[in-house]
Amino acid sequence: MTHMTTDTTTVATGTPILHASGVTMRFGGLTAVRDVELSVNSGEIVGLIGPNGAGKTTFFNCLTGLYIPTEGTVSYKGNVLPHKSHLVTQAGIARTFQNIRLFANMTVLENVLVGRHTRTNEGLWSALLRTPGFKRAERASEARAMELLEFTGLAHKRDHLARNLPYGEQRKLEIARALASEPGLLLLDEPTAGMNPQETRAAEELIFAIRDQGIAVLVIEHDMRFIFNLCDRVTCLVQGEVLVEGSPSVVQSDERVVAAYLGTPFEGAPGAEEVAEVNAAEAAQADDAAHTSAPGTTSTTSTTGTEGDAK
Ligand SMILES: Nc1ncnc2c1ncn2[C@@H]1O[C@H](COP(=O)(O)OP(=O)(O)O)[C@@H](O)[C@H]1O
Ligand SMILES: [Mg+2]
Repeated sequence: MTHMTTDTTTVATGTPILHASGVTMRFGGLTAVRDVELSVNSGEIVGLIGPNGAGKTTFFNCLTGLYIPTEGTVSYKGNVLPHKSHLVTQAGIARTFQNIRLFANMTVLENVLVGRHTRTNEGLWSALLRTPGFKRAERASEARAMELLEFTGLAHKRDHLARNLPYGEQRKLEIARALASEPGLLLLDEPTAGMNPQETRAAEELIFAIRDQGIAVLVIEHDMRFIFNLCDRVTCLVQGEVLVEGSPSVVQSDERVVAAYLGTPFEGAPGAEEVAEVNAAEAAQADDAAHTSAPGTTSTTSTTGTEGDAK
């Protein structure tokens, strides 16, 4: 990993930079996020976990100005954030998406350059007229973009089209593009989804390196080993509400978190009976499958299924 220079303003470690207070998001009759309180301190990597549909991505969308929360406020470095994603990016929060959003027909380098536009001051006319100032800014931008490609291990792919990259590298490119806006806080929505174990390990190293550059990180992930190894603090959302918040060891050993992930209903959980019925039906089907499958094959059932994400 090469050294990367940042012009991120340094803040004393441990001071809160992001604070979400009483954030509620309703879609018609559905409350996807309910009264969520969450803060991220400078120098921290904070994890956001919870079963599918818990409201994690919706909460990210509230933080980044994509959604206007029904209730609550989000502040960054003491200022309440506007409900406009480009203004949130400008304020210093960058993100990646659960469903990768790259410009498929642009090169790797071009994708990162797009990410820089919030940090370049050159206007439309200087771009059209290609003034010396514009050309200078363009060279500086390209140098910075290449630095970020080195940092994320994609420099050798600079001229490849984004759509031709393997999945793991597309995720890295999204991170490089997010870093191009020179954020103070990076939000990652399932950065290792679809990655193999080696790629996941590399992603972990990359996130530590990002933190070491002075960028705080808030990360959504399903891979518990990854989360508990990476994060300073973890918040678990269930059905839109904070179930538990604390150090990885506290959250990891909380029986309600274990229950939420295993699909075992904990006492008093709404819909517990329905979950129990579905689990029983699945177990019965798994038995059938085990009896009918060819010798030597193993049958597995997943209670989580594939991610159905908000578009
Ligand atoms: N734009 C939307 N309109 C209506 N319902 C939505 C929208 N986005 C998300 N939801 C619903 O909100 C809930 C939380 O979804 P999401 O935030 O994607 O969960 P997670 O990321 O934790 O899997 C789900 O029930 C989902 O169907
Ligand atoms: Mg999600």
